Amino acid sequence: MNCHERIAPKSDKLLLVRESLASGSPIPWVRVHKLPDFVYFDHSAHVRRGVSCVSCHGRVDRMEQIVQVKPLSMAWCLDCHRNPDAHLRPPDLVTDLGWVPEQDPAAIGQQVRTQLNINPSTDCSTCHR
Ligand code: HEC
Ligand code: HEC
Ligand code: HEC
Repeated sequence: MNCHERIAPKSDKLLLVRESLASGSPIPWVRVHKLPDFVYFDHSAHVRRGVSCVSCHGRVDRMEQIVQVKPLSMAWCLDCHRNPDAHLRPPDLVTDLGWVPEQDPAAIGQQVRTQLNINPSTDCSTCHR
């Protein structure tokens, strides 16, 4: 609580944090994004290949409260796996949610794709194991 002894010490929004400190139990995580158990998903397979958090989670840095902005449906996964170019960027920029490409995003993505030899699979067994 170090910071919040001074900053907004009585804020209602920090009630959970004060309670957690007093009780010693962690703040319960409220899950917003959740795939069914029969779907296999791996974050690192995406972020290490230049797919930004923003492509799948939107501008979480501007959300007062986290909401799901993409359908997380099979068609959504496949749309990008079939045609990822416009969603690829240099991997060191994946957490820069406000990044604005200087040229056509698909052209940049295509370069990244060639350089890293990116070819997302559409085999059923990629996501259903
Ligand atoms: C290709 C799409 C994709 C990208 C890119 C991606 N995520 Fe996710 N994220 C998901 C999906 C899908 C889930 C739900 C996974 C599940 O249920 O197994 C998820 C779940 C999460 C969760 C848990 C969310 C919750 O509601 O409890 C966090 C936190 C998270 N992602 C953070 C990140 C961060 C940070 C990045 C970037 C470094 C990132 N994600 C990049 C698709 C993505
Ligand atoms: C915005 C684009 C995008 C979206 C949306 C997306 N993916 Fe991907 N996915 C990729 C890219 C790019 C790769 C990396 C391919 C490579 O390394 O050649 C990848 C790789 C994967 C891999 C790793 C495959 C392997 O061979 O190891 C899995 C599993 C996967 N995606 C599942 C999913 C699932 C499930 C969803 C939907 C919930 C999803 N993806 C949504 C772009 C996307
Ligand atoms: C890139 C990832 C990905 C690939 C490849 C993929 N799926 Fe899926 N699939 C998903 C996701 C994500 C869901 C869950 C969608 C949801 O919850 O709305 C899903 C759901 C399903 C379901 C359940 C549908 C329902 O109505 O509940 C079936 C059946 C299925 N997939 C079959 C397949 C078959 C067959 C293939 C190969 C032709 C395939 N999937 C390839 C990601 C994938």
